[in-house]
Amino acid sequence: MTAQLSKKSEAWSARFSEPVSDLVKRYTASVFFDKRMAEVDIQGSLAHAEMLAHQKIISTKDYEDIQRGMAQIRAEIAEGKFEWLLDLEDVHLNIEKRLTELAGDAGKRLHTGRSRNDQVATDIRLYMRAAIDDILGLLREFRLALLDLAEANADTILPGFTHMQVAQPITFGHHILAYVEMFGRDAERMADCRKRVNRLPLGAAALAGTTFPIDRERVAKALGFDEVCRNSLDAVSDRDFAIEFCAAAALTMTHISRMSEELVIWMSPRVGFIDIADRFCTGSSIMPQKKNPDVPELARGKTGRVNGHLIALLTLMKGQPLAYNKDNQEDKEPLFDAVDTVIDTLRIFADMARGITVKPEAMRAAALQGYATATDLADYLVKKGLPFRDAHEAVAHAVKVCVDKECDLSDLQLDELKNFSPLIEQDVFDVLSLEGSVAARDHIGGTAPAQVKAAIARARAALAIAAV
Ligand code: ARG
Repeated sequence: MTAQLSKKSEAWSARFSEPVSDLVKRYTASVFFDKRMAEVDIQGSLAHAEMLAHQKIISTKDYEDIQRGMAQIRAEIAEGKFEWLLDLEDVHLNIEKRLTELAGDAGKRLHTGRSRNDQVATDIRLYMRAAIDDILGLLREFRLALLDLAEANADTILPGFTHMQVAQPITFGHHILAYVEMFGRDAERMADCRKRVNRLPLGAAALAGTTFPIDRERVAKALGFDEVCRNSLDAVSDRDFAIEFCAAAALTMTHISRMSEELVIWMSPRVGFIDIADRFCTGSSIMPQKKNPDVPELARGKTGRVNGHLIALLTLMKGQPLAYNKDNQEDKEPLFDAVDTVIDTLRIFADMARGITVKPEAMRAAALQGYATATDLADYLVKKGLPFRDAHEAVAHAVKVCVDKECDLSDLQLDELKNFSPLIEQDVFDVLSLEGSVAARDHIGGTAPAQVKAAIARARAALAIAAV
């Protein structure tokens, strides 16, 4: 096990005549949060060492010693035996010091032609690439679950709302497909962000590049990067890719939050459109009758922290001159928390989407209130030759009478309806029915059950072939 190392053994200590205080040490250290990048740090170091050996900057023997040492470090970390030392500041110095203990001078040669500045930028990018791939997988799973829910409810009618007031009848399948669209765009954004994440900073060294004959393309290939960062100053300093990720994450959470808001409303006993499986809900410690939708409520709340992380990273970056500044160490905690929050939330939502019970009778009853087919009556009159504004006015009169009589448009008799327009005939009752109303919106993007089924088929086909 690694012993506590003296100040003298720190990478930069010879320059200093007094040690930093414990408080400063704690203030400047990042090891307790950046150690989660240990695996990618080792991967980056091994690719760098292989390149150094290939370029004859270090010997093959050194490379082999580094490989052996790193294998042991990996094992120690996996077994929880690796001793992380605050004195060694961050994940990079902790691993390098342990490597030097295990591999001697070979360990000390690893950092040739490299700086922690390009090393940390590489680690973050590797870490984020894996996180994005996980998120893309979860967004796919979630959309598949939503498609199943939409398919089972392609014909289920509920009121669509504007201003939180009943507007027009829609199908529940159509409503759910709106979220499939949102989460589809979230996946596109993540995939697009990945392109800019997947570029290699290593080789930029501290800021200006290195005097050693390195082969950056070789390292990029070994680590699966699409290309190398083309400017060393930019490579070590900008974190725009992390900001972009947080922006995409904030939008994903915003969509989750909108959906959560609806789930909470739908599950409220006053509305009663759905039930959510017990495993996503909790009871009250005092009110025995309660079953609270904690998961959607918490997800709605957690959206705030991801939005906050986006602002934190933007603010972190805005005042920084080129090139690397220690400010950048502050990028990790917001970034990691954004990753954790989005991953946990999507994982739960993909499961929860399959734990939603729809209550079609309650949805239907709600759609029958609020004159949801008033627009259909206006459209009917337009089709019979009345200008739309006149039709709108005639229906407004009809609605007013229904409000007074406390009945629905479809409850009026034909001769009563004729009072509002002589154009109204027996066939009006087809458009006043909920089924007639939704079926009539039969075009791409419309709520007709036939269109919902076609949209589901298109979405499934796209998910089957597309990378995202
Ligand atoms: N822990 C540092 C970070 O996260 C690593 C880079 C340190 N570089 C430096 N020049 N102090 O940014």
